[in-house]
Amino acid sequence: MTRDFQRIVAGERMRCDGQHGDNLIDGRTRKVTPDGRCRAASGGGGVAAEGGAGDGRRQGAIDTDYRERGASGGRGGGDDGLGVGHAVGSSQGGGAGEASGVIGVEKAGRAGGEWQSSPITLVELHRFLSPAAAAAIAAAHGTPCYVYDQATLAAQASAMLAFPNAFGLTVRFAMKACPNASVLRLFAAQGLHLDASSGYEVRRAIQAGVPAERISLSSQELPGDFAELLRLGIHVNACSLLQLERIGEAVPGQQVGLRFNPGRGSGGTGKTNVGGPDSSFGIWHEWADQAQAIATKYQLKVIRIHTHIGSGSDPVVWQEVSAASLALVLRFPDVVTLNLGGGYKVARVATEKGTDPQIVGAPVKQAFEKFAADHGRPLRLEIEPGTFLVANAGAVLCRVQDVVSTGAREFLKLDSGMTEILRPSLYGSQHPVYLYSANPTGRMRDYVVVGHCCESGDLISCAPGEPETLATRALPEAVAGDLVVIGGAGAYCAGMSTKNYNSFPEAPEVLLQPGEQFRLVRRRQTLDQILQNETGPEGL
Ligand code: LLP
Repeated sequence: MTRDFQRIVAGERMRCDGQHGDNLIDGRTRKVTPDGRCRAASGGGGVAAEGGAGDGRRQGAIDTDYRERGASGGRGGGDDGLGVGHAVGSSQGGGAGEASGVIGVEKAGRAGGEWQSSPITLVELHRFLSPAAAAAIAAAHGTPCYVYDQATLAAQASAMLAFPNAFGLTVRFAMKACPNASVLRLFAAQGLHLDASSGYEVRRAIQAGVPAERISLSSQELPGDFAELLRLGIHVNACSLLQLERIGEAVPGQQVGLRFNPGRGSGGTGKTNVGGPDSSFGIWHEWADQAQAIATKYQLKVIRIHTHIGSGSDPVVWQEVSAASLALVLRFPDVVTLNLGGGYKVARVATEKGTDPQIVGAPVKQAFEKFAADHGRPLRLEIEPGTFLVANAGAVLCRVQDVVSTGAREFLKLDSGMTEILRPSLYGSQHPVYLYSANPTGRMRDYVVVGHCCESGDLISCAPGEPETLATRALPEAVAGDLVVIGGAGAYCAGMSTKNYNSFPEAPEVLLQPGEQFRLVRRRQTLDQILQNETGPEGL
C-alpha cells in the first residue's frame, strides 16, 4: 500500500482546492494526487477520508489517479471501539500472501496484474454508513436491511440538475432503480421528474404524491389503463409502432413522444445494452416514416424524441448517439424536447470509472446550440438517470451467519444475498464489501462471500463481469454475527432482486438522515404477507 493511502485510511483529512478533475463519483469530482491531497470540483469543501467511524461520510466522493501495483496490502480500517475493519477490494493482487485489499480472481489469465489497481481503497472506503450507525440500525431493524443516505441522494440529484444544457433541462429519475416512496419524494422535492417503466410504477409514483404531469412512461408493455393515465396528465413515449397505433386509437390528438432505437447501443454488459439491431427497445430508427404515418393517421402530435441506449454506457458512444438523435428530431417538426435517457456510469469500486455529467454533457450542449442555429429550433433536454442518482447512496446491511471451509476455500455466508442484491449473480457486477468485526483479531483472510439462498450462483464476490467465477475478498477475520455492509446497492437492488426466494421476506429499507438519524421507510415483510395471496381449492 502506498504511504499516501495509509495516511488516508488512518484518518488524515485531505485538503480540497476547488479544481476540476475528470472523474466523478457521488456527484463531486475528486482526484487524489500522490501526495494524498484531494482536488474537488464541486460539492462541499473539505473531504474527510477516514478509515474509521464518524465523519468519513463523504469519503466515497474520492477518485484517485495514481496506481499501485503488486500484492500490496490494503487493509483499511480504523477502529472505533466496535472494531472496524474496512474491506477493500476489487483488485487482483497477484496472489502474494500478505495481499489484502484485493480480489483474487480465479482465472489464470487474470493473475498478475489485470485487476491490480489500488486506488480502490479510497473509492471504496465506506461512503456513509459508519460502524456506529450500522450497529444502531441493525439493532433497531435487524438484518438484512437496505440503508439509503439522504445527503448522497441530494448531492447526486444536484449534480444531475447541473447537467449542461442549452435551452432548458428536465431531469427524470428512472424510478425502477429505487422506487421507494420516500426516495421519490426526496427527489421530487428537489425538482426532479420521474421516468416510469410500467403502469404500476406510474400509479406508485402518483400514490407517493408526485404530480402526474411530472411522470413520463416509457414501457416495454403499454399498460391496459394507459388512456386513463394519460387523462391524469402523464407523458408517454411510444416504444413501438404498435404502441403508437394503440395510443392513436384510444386517444387521437394526443401529444406523444417516440422512443427510438437509434441503431447503436452501449451498456456495461450485454444484458444492459438496449440499442442496436439486437435490441427490442424502441422504434427502429429507420422506421421513422412509418411512425410519422401513424401519428398523422390519428392526429397525434409528436413533441418529444427519446433515446436510451443502455446502462453503464460508454460516454463516447452516448455522446455520438445523442448527436445522431438530433437527426431524428428533424423528421418531426413539432418536437420541442429531446430525451437522451440514462446510463451514466458510477464507480462502485475503484476499478470502475464514473461518468462526469459536466464532461459528457458539454459537447451535447454544443450540438443543441448548433441545431438551434441551423434549424431555428431550440430544444429542451431531458435526461433520465437511475443508477447515477442512487447507486452509491445505498447499501445492504447484513451479518455473517456462517463461516465454512472446504480446505481449498473459506466462505463467508451472509444473511443476505440475491434476495437483496442480484446484480453480482446477474451481471457479475462488483460491489464493495466491508466487514465490521465485533472483536477484531487484526488478521485478514481471503473469503469467498456468498449469500443465503440455495443456489451456488448466489455469489457476491464474483469476478468482474463473470457471475459464475469465484473470487475472494480480503476481509478482517470474521465470525458469525459480524456486521457486513455491501456498498453500491442503491440502484436495482431493493427494486430488482429474487425477493421471497427460499421464502425469505423482503428486507426493510432505512433512510439515513443528517446527524446519523435514521428512519424506517419500508418495514420488513412478514411471513403472512408472503402468503396472503395464496389460494387453493377447498380441502387442500
Ligand atoms: N431510461 C430508460 C428508458 C431505461 O430503460 C433505464 C434503465 C434508464 C433510463 C436508467 O438507466 P440507468 O441510468 O440506471 O443506467 N438493472 C440494471 C440496469 C438496467 C436498467 C434498465 N433501464 C442494473 O442493475 O444496472
